[in-house]
Amino acid sequence: MGLHRLTHVTLATPDGTAAAAFYDQFGLAPTGADRFASADGGEQLRLVEDAHRRVLELGLGAADLDDLDGIADRLRARGLPADRDRDTLRSHEHATGIDVVVTVAPRIRSAATTAAVPNRPGANTRVDERAEPIDREGPVRPRKLGHVVVGSTEPEVTQRYFTDGLGFLVSDEIPGIAAFLRCSTDHHNVLVQGAPVTYVHHTSWQVDDVDDIGRGAHHLLDGDPGRHVWGLGRHYLGSNYFWYLRDPGGTFAEYYADLDVIEHADAWTPRRVTDSRALFAWGPPPPLEFLAPSDLGVSA
Ligand SMILES: [Fe+2]
Repeated sequence: MGLHRLTHVTLATPDGTAAAAFYDQFGLAPTGADRFASADGGEQLRLVEDAHRRVLELGLGAADLDDLDGIADRLRARGLPADRDRDTLRSHEHATGIDVVVTVAPRIRSAATTAAVPNRPGANTRVDERAEPIDREGPVRPRKLGHVVVGSTEPEVTQRYFTDGLGFLVSDEIPGIAAFLRCSTDHHNVLVQGAPVTYVHHTSWQVDDVDDIGRGAHHLLDGDPGRHVWGLGRHYLGSNYFWYLRDPGGTFAEYYADLDVIEHADAWTPRRVTDSRALFAWGPPPPLEFLAPSDLGVSA
């Protein structure tokens, strides 16, 4: 598959000014009016004011122009839209209304961090000194946009668009509910779930480690505890630590760290999980708000 990353996401949000202030505090760097960059992924978030919060556009990065040709052929063979100009492929997922834009993009290359090995019983690697994370200063800066989770009124249609149409691979499944889809070496880049209305459930942003998840959430909750949604916990599918915060429009923003990476599809065995592990390995109980956001007008 020629795709190798998410490039950007454009979110519709009811109050652009309030949302912009939130994502600034979240740690993304403003690059213009309602545009934000991650530390390693470049400009990855665009905000557009609209009463109906949803994903307007999702950008995907491919290796070269031949990949755009191949994906366009694949879409057209399935009767799906594919408009190609010299360096861009534009498509559209009709159930969610998401515009998909595929361009040739550089791979995201993150400088390696040098995290200390934690002290463990019988294996104290840090002696006579304090733990490095407690003295970290300055804001958390998310490295990149990791994944986007959307609600669709026709989840099977939307999921097939990403798998059959664009060539995403299935990493794990919650049968009948959702599948974790990847277009990169990350465990998942897109997840589609059924919903009474089209909406964006959350975007997820990679930080260095679990301490930076905690530091980022602490910063957002300091003075506005109502932003808390769910965390700290660890997902079973994807293995990542998580903490979800609520933006002013009701869309969740997730800090994540230590996600599974899949470089060899034949070495990875997808799992089909039907019990509580579908949601998490450990953490506080997921709140109803996470499972059925109140602004959708329905209960779980
Ligand atoms: Fe997530």
